[in-house]
Amino acid sequence: MRLFVAINFSPEIKDVLLRAIDDLRCQSQSGNFTRPENLHLTLAFIGESDNLSGAKAALEGITDGSFPLSVSGAGHFDDLWWAGIEPNPALNALAKSVRENLIGAGFGIDSKPFKPHITLARRLSGDAAPRLCVPKTTMTVDRVSLMRSDRINGRLTYTEVYGVALS
Ligand code: 2AM
Repeated sequence: MRLFVAINFSPEIKDVLLRAIDDLRCQSQSGNFTRPENLHLTLAFIGESDNLSGAKAALEGITDGSFPLSVSGAGHFDDLWWAGIEPNPALNALAKSVRENLIGAGFGIDSKPFKPHITLARRLSGDAAPRLCVPKTTMTVDRVSLMRSDRINGRLTYTEVYGVALS
Protein backbone atom coordinates (compact mmCIF):
# COMPACT_ATOMS: atom_id res chain seq x y z
CA MET A 1 0.00 0.00 0.00
CA ARG A 2 1.00 3.60 -0.56
CA LEU A 3 1.49 5.49 2.71
CA PHE A 4 2.22 9.02 3.85
CA VAL A 5 2.06 11.01 7.08
CA ALA A 6 -0.07 14.15 7.12
CA ILE A 7 -1.92 16.81 9.05
CA ASN A 8 -5.62 17.03 8.28
CA PHE A 9 -7.41 20.36 8.56
CA SER A 10 -10.07 22.03 10.67
CA PRO A 11 -13.42 22.75 8.95
CA GLU A 12 -12.53 26.48 8.91
CA ILE A 13 -9.27 25.93 7.02
CA LYS A 14 -11.00 23.51 4.64
CA ASP A 15 -13.54 26.24 3.81
CA VAL A 16 -10.78 28.72 2.97
CA LEU A 17 -9.01 26.14 0.79
CA LEU A 18 -12.23 25.17 -0.97
CA ARG A 19 -12.88 28.82 -1.83
CA ALA A 20 -9.37 29.02 -3.29
CA ILE A 21 -10.01 25.89 -5.36
CA ASP A 22 -13.28 27.42 -6.63
CA ASP A 23 -11.32 30.56 -7.60
CA LEU A 24 -8.89 28.42 -9.57
CA ARG A 25 -11.72 26.51 -11.20
CA CYS A 26 -13.37 29.78 -12.33
CA GLN A 27 -10.15 31.02 -13.89
CA SER A 28 -9.22 27.81 -15.72
CA GLN A 29 -10.66 25.93 -18.65
CA SER A 30 -9.68 22.61 -17.17
CA GLY A 31 -7.53 21.11 -14.46
CA ASN A 32 -7.22 18.42 -11.87
CA PHE A 33 -8.61 19.90 -8.63
CA THR A 34 -8.04 18.39 -5.18
CA ARG A 35 -11.27 16.94 -3.84
CA PRO A 36 -12.37 18.45 -0.47
CA GLU A 37 -11.86 15.23 1.46
CA ASN A 38 -8.31 14.91 0.09
CA LEU A 39 -6.97 18.28 1.33
CA HIS A 40 -4.04 17.70 3.70
CA LEU A 41 -0.48 18.77 4.53
CA THR A 42 2.12 16.04 4.00
CA LEU A 43 4.86 15.71 6.64
CA ALA A 44 6.57 12.67 5.14
CA PHE A 45 5.97 10.52 2.07
CA ILE A 46 6.61 6.83 2.75
CA GLY A 47 5.53 5.37 -0.59
CA GLU A 48 4.82 1.68 -1.17
CA SER A 49 5.11 -0.35 2.03
CA ASP A 50 3.30 -3.21 3.74
CA ASN A 51 4.88 -2.41 7.08
CA LEU A 52 1.84 -0.77 8.63
CA SER A 53 2.74 -1.84 12.16
CA GLY A 54 6.25 -0.36 11.76
CA ALA A 55 4.82 2.97 10.56
CA LYS A 56 2.34 3.04 13.44
CA ALA A 57 5.10 2.32 15.95
CA ALA A 58 7.25 5.10 14.45
CA LEU A 59 4.40 7.58 14.93
CA GLU A 60 3.81 6.36 18.48
CA GLY A 61 7.34 7.56 19.26
CA ILE A 62 6.49 11.20 18.51
CA THR A 63 6.67 13.38 21.61
CA ASP A 64 5.98 16.80 20.01
CA GLY A 65 3.26 18.91 21.57
CA SER A 66 0.32 20.59 19.85
CA PHE A 67 0.91 23.97 18.18
CA PRO A 68 -0.84 26.62 16.07
CA LEU A 69 -0.56 26.48 12.28
CA SER A 70 -1.65 29.20 9.84
CA VAL A 71 -2.53 28.74 6.21
CA SER A 72 -1.77 31.84 4.16
CA GLY A 73 -0.92 32.79 0.59
CA ALA A 74 -0.57 30.69 -2.53
CA GLY A 75 1.72 29.94 -5.42
CA HIS A 76 2.74 27.22 -7.83
CA PHE A 77 5.57 24.79 -8.54
CA ASP A 78 5.34 24.36 -12.31
CA ASP A 79 1.84 23.02 -12.89
CA LEU A 80 1.05 22.27 -9.23
CA TRP A 81 -0.89 25.07 -7.49
CA TRP A 82 -0.62 25.25 -3.72
CA ALA A 83 -1.75 27.14 -0.63
CA GLY A 84 1.07 28.09 1.71
CA ILE A 85 1.80 27.69 5.39
CA GLU A 86 3.21 30.55 7.48
CA PRO A 87 6.78 29.90 8.66
CA ASN A 88 6.43 27.60 11.64
CA PRO A 89 9.37 26.17 13.64
CA ALA A 90 7.07 23.75 15.54
CA LEU A 91 5.81 22.34 12.21
CA ASN A 92 9.38 21.94 10.93
CA ALA A 93 10.33 20.18 14.18
CA LEU A 94 7.34 17.84 13.88
CA ALA A 95 8.19 16.96 10.26
CA LYS A 96 11.77 16.30 11.39
CA SER A 97 10.69 13.98 14.22
CA VAL A 98 8.27 12.11 11.96
CA ARG A 99 10.95 11.61 9.32
CA GLU A 100 13.65 10.64 11.83
CA ASN A 101 11.36 8.13 13.52
CA LEU A 102 10.41 6.58 10.18
CA ILE A 103 14.04 6.39 9.06
CA GLY A 104 14.95 4.89 12.45
CA ALA A 105 12.30 2.22 11.82
CA GLY A 106 13.89 1.38 8.45
CA PHE A 107 11.67 3.34 6.05
CA GLY A 108 13.35 4.99 3.06
CA ILE A 109 12.01 8.54 3.30
CA ASP A 110 12.49 11.08 0.54
CA SER A 111 15.46 13.19 1.69
CA LYS A 112 14.32 16.36 -0.14
CA PRO A 113 13.94 19.35 2.20
CA PHE A 114 10.50 19.74 3.78
CA LYS A 115 8.55 22.34 1.74
CA PRO A 116 5.18 22.61 3.46
CA HIS A 117 2.38 23.20 0.95
CA ILE A 118 -1.20 22.18 0.32
CA THR A 119 -1.86 20.97 -3.22
CA LEU A 120 -5.00 22.64 -4.59
CA ALA A 121 -4.81 21.78 -8.28
CA ARG A 122 -2.59 20.43 -11.02
CA ARG A 123 -2.39 20.79 -14.78
CA LEU A 124 -4.57 23.89 -15.17
CA SER A 125 -5.24 25.15 -18.63
CA GLY A 126 -6.52 28.60 -19.48
CA ASP A 127 -5.66 31.87 -21.14
CA ALA A 128 -3.87 33.56 -18.22
CA ALA A 129 -2.12 32.52 -15.03
CA PRO A 130 -4.77 32.37 -12.28
CA ARG A 131 -4.73 34.90 -9.42
CA LEU A 132 -5.25 33.33 -6.07
CA CYS A 133 -5.87 34.71 -2.57
CA VAL A 134 -5.72 32.55 0.54
CA PRO A 135 -6.44 34.63 3.66
CA LYS A 136 -4.57 33.79 6.84
CA THR A 137 -6.49 31.19 8.85
CA THR A 138 -5.23 29.39 11.95
CA MET A 139 -5.89 26.05 13.60
CA THR A 140 -4.31 23.98 16.38
CA VAL A 141 -2.42 20.93 15.19
CA ASP A 142 -3.10 18.24 17.78
CA ARG A 143 -3.03 15.08 15.66
CA VAL A 144 -0.76 13.45 13.11
CA SER A 145 -2.28 10.95 10.69
CA LEU A 146 -0.87 7.96 8.85
CA MET A 147 -2.66 8.07 5.50
CA ARG A 148 -3.17 5.44 2.86
CA SER A 149 -3.51 6.48 -0.77
CA ASP A 150 -5.52 4.32 -3.18
CA ARG A 151 -6.91 4.80 -6.63
CA ILE A 152 -10.49 3.53 -6.41
CA ASN A 153 -12.45 3.49 -9.68
CA GLY A 154 -9.92 5.98 -11.04
CA ARG A 155 -10.33 8.33 -8.06
CA LEU A 156 -7.45 9.16 -5.76
CA THR A 157 -8.72 8.33 -2.27
CA TYR A 158 -6.92 9.07 1.00
CA THR A 159 -7.89 7.23 4.18
CA GLU A 160 -6.53 7.72 7.68
CA VAL A 161 -5.29 4.33 8.85
CA TYR A 162 -3.86 5.54 12.16
CA GLY A 163 -3.62 8.73 14.17
CA VAL A 164 -1.58 9.93 17.13
CA ALA A 165 -2.53 12.81 19.41
CA LEU A 166 0.04 15.53 20.12
CA SER A 167 0.05 16.28 23.85
P1 2AM B 1 2.13 16.71 -3.60
O1 2AM B 1 0.68 17.04 -3.36
O2 2AM B 1 3.02 17.88 -3.58
O3 2AM B 1 2.32 15.84 -4.80
C1 2AM B 1 0.28 11.88 -1.24
O4 2AM B 1 0.78 11.59 -2.51
C2 2AM B 1 0.98 13.07 -0.65
O5 2AM B 1 2.39 12.81 -0.56
C3 2AM B 1 0.85 14.37 -1.45
O6 2AM B 1 0.66 15.41 -0.52
C4 2AM B 1 2.16 14.50 -2.15
O7 2AM B 1 2.58 15.83 -2.34
C5 2AM B 1 3.11 13.88 -1.15
N1 2AM B 1 4.36 13.41 -1.75
C6 2AM B 1 5.60 13.79 -1.38
N2 2AM B 1 6.53 13.14 -2.10
C7 2AM B 1 5.87 12.36 -2.96
C8 2AM B 1 6.28 11.46 -3.98
N3 2AM B 1 7.58 11.20 -4.24
N4 2AM B 1 5.32 10.85 -4.70
C9 2AM B 1 4.00 11.08 -4.46
N5 2AM B 1 3.55 11.90 -3.49
C10 2AM B 1 4.48 12.53 -2.75
